[in-house]
Amino acid sequence: MTIVANALAATPPMGWNSWNMFGSAINEARLRATAEALVSTGLKDCGYNYLVIDDCWSVKSGRGSHGELVADPQKFPSGMPALVDFVHGLGLKIGIYSDAAELTCAGYPGSFGSEEQDAQLWASWGFDFLKYDYCHVPSDQATAIERYQRMGQALRRTGRDFLYSLCEWGGRGPHLWGRSVGGHMWRVSGDISDSWVNVWVPAYASYGIGADVSMDIAAQLDEYGGPGGWNDLDMLVVGLGGQGQITGSGMSFLEYQTHMSVWCLACSPLMIGCDIQALDVETAGLLLNREVLAVNQDPLGRPALRVKQIGPCDVWRKPLADGAMAVGLVNRGSSGMDVTLKAAELGLLDTSKLTRNLWQQTDVADFTFELTQRVQPHQTILLKIGG
Ligand code: GLA
Repeated sequence: MTIVANALAATPPMGWNSWNMFGSAINEARLRATAEALVSTGLKDCGYNYLVIDDCWSVKSGRGSHGELVADPQKFPSGMPALVDFVHGLGLKIGIYSDAAELTCAGYPGSFGSEEQDAQLWASWGFDFLKYDYCHVPSDQATAIERYQRMGQALRRTGRDFLYSLCEWGGRGPHLWGRSVGGHMWRVSGDISDSWVNVWVPAYASYGIGADVSMDIAAQLDEYGGPGGWNDLDMLVVGLGGQGQITGSGMSFLEYQTHMSVWCLACSPLMIGCDIQALDVETAGLLLNREVLAVNQDPLGRPALRVKQIGPCDVWRKPLADGAMAVGLVNRGSSGMDVTLKAAELGLLDTSKLTRNLWQQTDVADFTFELTQRVQPHQTILLKIGG
């Protein structure tokens, strides 16, 4: 039997989401400028094609006289259809946000009980994507499946293609049922923080997840992601530099490079979270490296497996559609180390294979029996072997 992946998410979705940088401070001018920046920076050409409006877009005090959600006229004076048309006119797609309860996480009207009406409204405005959050809900799994199913059905009934992004943070096993409710991606952790280690967030009474911890979460779930449905490690923090409205004071260049490498190896959606109107050279280099992005977007769609831990260094292996293999060497320790890869341990034959360093975009050596690489603290060396 041939399995045809849902064309909407045949490879991990890519784009930009308003939350990590702007939180509630969204408005149409900012979103238009961001859409233009997706094009002018070359991000769109690299595949980042969704602009997603997160929480806080509607009138907070309640629904309109016909029970409809109302876009905040202060934030969106031209109305949502005008913004949607503008974004579509740039060749991009656009996403909206709601929650499977009466209120969203930030306390705006949610969609529980109004799924059909809300889905019809977003479809009539021309939206292409829904991120559906899970604050203010019962904690059990059965209710979550039912509520995500209700919205999944409502989206399908609109007759419009919606990429459906589930955001219940992984506690109820969405990797097991996300596809069955129509989901194309499902968050597998609580909210990310802009830091290497976890950071305590008093307002949520929970930890913001650090990049080092995300790796261990991804390592548990590799068999569940694939064409049509992806494990979502959360929006990227690359480029925030501690300036966003999420927790964390930023990471070093090598730590951001590791964060990006792991998201690519794990086939996580790549939703940028920083302000791309002010993209610095280092951040651009991390977001726009086509050889690295090709690992994330490889048509085989196999999330990497963590095959080995050599001291503090993790070794990840990801088979690629052209027969090559991507390999990630992640040094989680505090001193540099030489890591020696052996062909047999990676499941490779002892024949000569051209090996490329994807971040540097340079050929390294012919890898036959073994290959040694120096990896700095918190750095990831990303290799493509053979192909
Ligand atoms: C939750 C989600 C975040 C973001 C906020 C908005 O915390 O996990 O990604 O959408 O809600 O309030």
